[in-house]
Amino acid sequence: MKQAADAQTARLFFALWPDDAVRVRLVEAGRALHEGCGGRLMRPDTLHLTLLFLGDTPLARLGELCAAAGAVSGAPFTLRLSHLGWWPHNRIGWAAPGEVPEALSSLVANLTNNINKESFAFDNKKFCPHVTLLRQGRCGAIPPLPDFLWEVRDFVLLRSAPRPEGAAYEIVQRWPLEKR
Ligand code: 2AM
Repeated sequence: MKQAADAQTARLFFALWPDDAVRVRLVEAGRALHEGCGGRLMRPDTLHLTLLFLGDTPLARLGELCAAAGAVSGAPFTLRLSHLGWWPHNRIGWAAPGEVPEALSSLVANLTNNINKESFAFDNKKFCPHVTLLRQGRCGAIPPLPDFLWEVRDFVLLRSAPRPEGAAYEIVQRWPLEKR
């Protein structure tokens, strides 16, 4: 039985989690993009920006993972979301910043470094910040995005829980980004 308990995993990833005001703007952006690209809109309560995707991770290592994330030093920053787009390779429609703030790049680099040092498995593909707004879209008219600001003050570890209506994301833990 011990073996079965040890084998328990959760699908985990680190992300930026929008406040309600930013979420409303993302939902509006998704609707506008949907008019041109169709596809399946993401539920408002799932909208986020992934920093680092681990995937299935042993629950027995959750404490170590949180300690590694807690040791990350990062500063708050402003993200200006200014672009909508669609990728043909995965048919995702997204919102993204025109420029990636230095504080965001360094947050991801520090997080990756700390997680790597502790020998966690994670998806090491190049960081390309975006908020997925719809899936299974088609190439269509991409409207302009009236840009808006996301004041990022913390980051979170999310757990993806399968639900009949599609995955739900639960916040496992939140870490503030401190002014230095
Ligand atoms: P996506 O929206 O661009 O697909 C949960 O799946 C979150 O982790 C999504 O934001 C997803 O990005 C992101 N993610 C990053 N790498 C992933 C991977 N290898 N498999 C699944 N999701 C991944």
